[in-house]
Amino acid sequence: MKLNKLEFAVVSNPFADFLQGKTKARQFRLSLPKDAVALDIGCSNGSESKALLEYFSLKKLYAVDLDEKMIAIARKKIKNPAIVFEKGDATRLKYPANSFDVVFSFGVINHITEWKKCIKELGRVLKPGGYLVAEELSRETFRTPIGRIMKMLFDRPYDTMFGRDEFIGFLKQKRFRIIGYKKHYPMWTLKYFTVIAEN
Ligand SMILES: C[S@@+](CC[C@H](N)C(=O)[O-])C[C@H]1O[C@@H](n2cnc3c(N)ncnc32)[C@H](O)[C@@H]1O
Repeated sequence: MKLNKLEFAVVSNPFADFLQGKTKARQFRLSLPKDAVALDIGCSNGSESKALLEYFSLKKLYAVDLDEKMIAIARKKIKNPAIVFEKGDATRLKYPANSFDVVFSFGVINHITEWKKCIKELGRVLKPGGYLVAEELSRETFRTPIGRIMKMLFDRPYDTMFGRDEFIGFLKQKRFRIIGYKKHYPMWTLKYFTVIAEN
């Protein structure tokens, strides 16, 4: 599901750029192989992708988004030969099996109606022992007072959206090993969760 106008404004402004430049990945203690090849799904305008490349000293980062408009913005803004921006759907990726050492999903899988299909697809493209690193909203997010307001403004597949434990349960069912899982609710603002799972 592509972003609506309000969501687009939330992720594409100088303050969001500043936060993405610091990269959400800093919160994860993750050590990646030297010369790691990574995939960033739902890369939007690419600011977070660039920060990931630098923070983890990645050899190569493939960054995909369903929305060609976002890919055009990212390509214009970020000129780094180590990042390849491509239009792509995280439920049906064009990459061969066992391609990536790590896949990042920052606020993306909760936009996807077929989220189980997406997780299976990420398991396919990850190498054995590769990591899925995700920060996600869930059904719980949209049940808090602020979440209910967000629900009126943001387009999401609310009818099929996962609960936090359901998401973790499905990862386990697909033979991912949960290395880190944390629920967040900073100052009763936004309920979200972070997870690192090994393929
Ligand atoms: C909230 S933004 C996340 C932005 C970025 N990851 C970040 O951390 O700043 C969600 C993005 O996911 C993209 N998206 C939604 N469904 C997708 C899918 N099935 N495959 C790839 N990208 C998708 C949207 O177009 C949007 O740009």
